[in-house]
Amino acid sequence: MAKLIDGRVIAEKVYVDLRREIAELKEKDVTPGLAVVLVGDDPASRAYVRSKDKMCRELGLHSLKLELPASTTQTELLNRVEELNADSAIHGILVQSPPPAHIDETAIVRALDPRKDVDGFHPENVARLVLDDPCGFVPCTPLGVQRLLIESKININGAHVVVLGRSMIVGKPLALLLMQKNEKANATVTVVHSRSRDLADITRSADIIIAAIGRAGFVKADHVREGAIVVDVGINRVEDAASQRGYRLAGDVAFDEVSKKASAITPVPGGVGPMTIAMLMSNTVKAARQALGKAT
Ligand code: GUN
Repeated sequence: MAKLIDGRVIAEKVYVDLRREIAELKEKDVTPGLAVVLVGDDPASRAYVRSKDKMCRELGLHSLKLELPASTTQTELLNRVEELNADSAIHGILVQSPPPAHIDETAIVRALDPRKDVDGFHPENVARLVLDDPCGFVPCTPLGVQRLLIESKININGAHVVVLGRSMIVGKPLALLLMQKNEKANATVTVVHSRSRDLADITRSADIIIAAIGRAGFVKADHVREGAIVVDVGINRVEDAASQRGYRLAGDVAFDEVSKKASAITPVPGGVGPMTIAMLMSNTVKAARQALGKAT
């Protein structure tokens, strides 16, 4: 039976470090500030935005929650981003994805001041990740996965990591992060996706499997080598008449069968999810620290 990797416990360790850093910044009269912008009323997005705002408050960060109607135009949204770019009390800006269909998300991301882009989606930050430049911002979920592995004492150096999924938010940046030339990475990374041939043959050669394809229960025991580490990034809503909400959350991994074969595994919920928000807080503190460094 696999050892359970508890993301909530590891996130708490991250917060211990962060609280110390935040106290140091406050001694210099800086309160890190995060603006979270939500356009429209998608229920899942609303829930994410609420939990980000709550965590800011718990840590004593300045939190600005902008909830804009679904009818907000591209120009209106760009104007709000410009205001936030110019606001010296705000160090990090996050525009919750996905926005309504009439919004050009790429243009919004490019309008962000890259120094405030705590999501790490701006092309300048993508470039910094490719270039191994530690001043850039790395997307929160990949950072959270890396931290989860490190804190769990799982060896990434030289390991074969197979990432399932090639999204801009998780798969692609995660592959870049884990292949970087440094002690927190140095992995041999393979990325597989919906069009990959012989996918199970590839995942079976992995020391570490990271599932981020957005399909509930996709990774089965047959995909996994005995003793492999399995990290589940998936958060899928599946219908469940027995649940009060009418749905339950399911990962990309068929947990019951895979946990009998893996040596360690993350649960959903309570695995990668809490780490993602911890890394958002960490990126916001980093943005405030870097802004202070530039100001002095
Ligand atoms: N929607 C789902 N995940 C994310 C994320 O990491 N950042 C933003 N902005 N939106 C998301």
